[in-house]
Amino acid sequence: MSGMLELLSDSPVVPVLTIEDLESAVPLARALVAGGLNVLEITLRTPCAKAAINRICAQVPEGVVGAGTVTRAEDFSLLKDLGARFAISPGATPALYEAAARSDLPFLPGIASASELMQGLERGYDCFKFFPANAIGGVAALRALYGPFPNARFCPTGGITEETLSDYLSLPNVIAAGGSWFAPAADVAAGRWERITERARRVAGNRNRG
Ligand code: 3PG
Repeated sequence: MSGMLELLSDSPVVPVLTIEDLESAVPLARALVAGGLNVLEITLRTPCAKAAINRICAQVPEGVVGAGTVTRAEDFSLLKDLGARFAISPGATPALYEAAARSDLPFLPGIASASELMQGLERGYDCFKFFPANAIGGVAALRALYGPFPNARFCPTGGITEETLSDYLSLPNVIAAGGSWFAPAADVAAGRWERITERARRVAGNRNRG
């Protein structure tokens, strides 16, 4: 249904990028792709976010770039025009689900509870963002959801670190995990792209499944 399962299966670690300075967008994306992380989530939280998506799509063709923090139904049609390949939301509303159904952009709806998960499953989704992962029970919560919902798959984000990543990825219902730790603001501001590539390279190999 969502197309996200296939996309995330190929690249189970997703950098979540909040781009403050448009000039950093392309070098940042190139640094991550060079480290082996191709699927990039650009959050719609800054004034230049949409321009950043457009620029990365045009200039970093190896990247698979999508939008995060998609909270408005009208964003779906615009994102497609910008070249975005997917949309991710921190939570989901009927209006977002309806906009996603009208669009062919793969959509990863956010859920934080069994009830929200059931609403997404009812709409035919099988893959969800689990947000904010660490704050809502992390690995233990995902393990508990596996009992009643063994077919649901998750991409947890929110409070995940390089140290906790493998705990998440070892769960049978976790298809991918995301976070912002790859690109600390200080490294981005100083243009320390090599450090970002190194960090990406370390986790790109972290695909061990339990
Ligand atoms: C988000 O959308 O904010 C992501 O979940 C990133 O969370 P993090 O900054 O805690 O990694």
